[in-house]
Amino acid sequence: MDDARLDAMFSGVIGQEYQTLKLICPLAAKMSQLVGESLQQIVSTLPSEQPFSVIDLGGGTGITTLAILMAGESVNVVSVDCEATMQNQAKHSLRKWTGQGRLSFDGRDALNVLKDIATASIDCVASAYTLHNFLDKYRAEVISEIYRVLKPGGQFINGDRYGLDDISTHTRMIQNEVSGYFKALIEINKLDVLEHWIVHLFSDESENHVMRETFSLQQLQQAGFKDVFLSKRCEVNVLVVAVK
Ligand SMILES: C[S@@+](CC[C@H](N)C(=O)[O-])C[C@H]1O[C@@H](n2cnc3c(N)ncnc32)[C@H](O)[C@@H]1O
Repeated sequence: MDDARLDAMFSGVIGQEYQTLKLICPLAAKMSQLVGESLQQIVSTLPSEQPFSVIDLGGGTGITTLAILMAGESVNVVSVDCEATMQNQAKHSLRKWTGQGRLSFDGRDALNVLKDIATASIDCVASAYTLHNFLDKYRAEVISEIYRVLKPGGQFINGDRYGLDDISTHTRMIQNEVSGYFKALIEINKLDVLEHWIVHLFSDESENHVMRETFSLQQLQQAGFKDVFLSKRCEVNVLVVAVK
């Protein structure tokens, strides 16, 4: 699907929320689509009648979950998010897929959900813009659990903020990002949203949150993943795929 049709589809289902995200942080919206495309590449090689199970960690308002559902009719998703306000929007926007039996929701936190899943039982764990919000110790536990629940050959696909190893270049990118927030949000007079994003960015950039590239890829290898790829870097945003 070309970008314009994809945009129309997402706006139609997710509504204003998607347009606002595209305005403030276009690369965040793009990451969900990259996760969906990456998944589509896997699913398209499988027999169409073979069910394909996906856990979406931090499904939020449903943008990533929708991208995952679009990857193929055989895909069944559990969308996990511990914020009821976010998840309720996804429940409403994506009710068509819940009705089809392809989508369910879990309102608990990611680690507790993963701990309840049987070992080697899931085809893919997917996520966009969620893991960078985790404290480093919690994230390490989540990664071990992701590895455990995946079937052999299963994939962890994550579109997220991965900090550059070169801290000076990284800082310049963050400065540009801040300038972008000011430009976009002052223009539409959304100073409250601007405040929220700047405050949030301090958390994203703090030492116990930031996912530095080399460390993060090594962390996945140490958890047991045999192949780990990083691609599509766009400023601090990248797609990471790890194969069990
Ligand atoms: C920035 S949003 C991303 C939403 C969606 N994936 C997207 O890209 O549009 C991150 C989401 O992760 C959820 N989240 C954060 N920590 C979580 C945790 N420990 N367990 C489950 N969900 C979590 C938040 O509630 C939020 O909805």
